[in-house]
Amino acid sequence: MSWGRVILVLLVLDLRAGQSFPNNKLDGSDEDVNGIDFDKEEDETGGRNETQCDQCSPELCPVAMGCRAGLVLDSCGCCSECGNLEGQPCDLDSTNSFYGLCGSDLQCKIDISDLGLGEVPEPQCMCKFQEAVCGSDGRTYMNICQFKEAAYSTAGLNVQGNGPCRTVPLIKVPPHNLVNVTGSRVAFLCEVFAFPMALIEWRKDGNDVILPGDDPHISVQSRGGPLKYELSSWLQIEGLAPGDAGTYRCVAHNALGSVSASAVLGVLGPDEMNAFLSENMTEMFGYDQPRDYDEDYY
Ligand SMILES: *[C@@H]1O[C@H](CO)[C@@H](O)[C@H](O)[C@H]1NC(C)=O
Ligand SMILES: *[C@@H]1O[C@H](CO)[C@@H](O)[C@H](O)[C@H]1NC(C)=O
Ligand SMILES: *[C@@H]1O[C@H](CO)[C@@H](O)[C@H](O)[C@H]1NC(C)=O
Repeated sequence: MSWGRVILVLLVLDLRAGQSFPNNKLDGSDEDVNGIDFDKEEDETGGRNETQCDQCSPELCPVAMGCRAGLVLDSCGCCSECGNLEGQPCDLDSTNSFYGLCGSDLQCKIDISDLGLGEVPEPQCMCKFQEAVCGSDGRTYMNICQFKEAAYSTAGLNVQGNGPCRTVPLIKVPPHNLVNVTGSRVAFLCEVFAFPMALIEWRKDGNDVILPGDDPHISVQSRGGPLKYELSSWLQIEGLAPGDAGTYRCVAHNALGSVSASAVLGVLGPDEMNAFLSENMTEMFGYDQPRDYDEDYY
């Protein structure tokens, strides 16, 4: 028991000696504070000499946390840091000198489709694999990189299968309510995601006919996109007549089921339309007009 006490005392003394080691003086003068600051700076450089990479002390590297695209090595090949995510800019030459390196399953590429007028192409991280995967959350991820990013912040998320999730159609952009004057032209849009691919039909509530039926002033156009596994369909009505007012419904169905979304079309006479516009002017056009005006002077 007495030996135990002696050891305890020695330990305490040892700890005190360790604590006071950086402070060569016991009065806590300014010089000691400087000494401590210097130690900190060394830690922040991550255990390497910033101008030369020859000294690497991995144990002094800062811990890279929250890396949703895995780890890559820094420009000295010494410390691990977060790899860049899909869509983030990157260094083409794999030196990790400026933007950084892409994370796992990603490669640094210049997206030629980005080349707009007068735009400088910027390399960005793109997924090496472009096959969709179905997550255990029932969501379709367009590639494995997007899945891994989501899996990082969702505990227990795993891949349920290759390819998109089989699902009843999902309406990504439903049609919006419209008001217009008699004689004008309006169009409703409906954007759908589905796998297996969906068919889109348009109907008017209270009417069994699948549009356009035999109505010459109504037309329906569908095309694939804008994204993979998506379908866009427009219902267009020309020469609006009062009888066109009503609720229009976009119905999307595939082998697994059917969903729908609807919107209301209001048809106003010219006088009603003017009243509607003046009363609702700021709401409908208040933000657009100044922007057009600015562009004229650009
Ligand atoms: C890095 O190393 C060089 C040469 O070994 C030295 O001159 C320089 O002062 C060092 N820089 C730092 C920040 O330690
Ligand atoms: C209203 O009709 C005009 C003329 O046909 C058309 O240009 C405009 O896009 C229509 N507005 C809406 C909201 O559909
Ligand atoms: C203005 O818009 C509101 C909401 O959309 C509508 O209820 C109202 O009738 C409109 N005004 C006119 C004069 O139509």
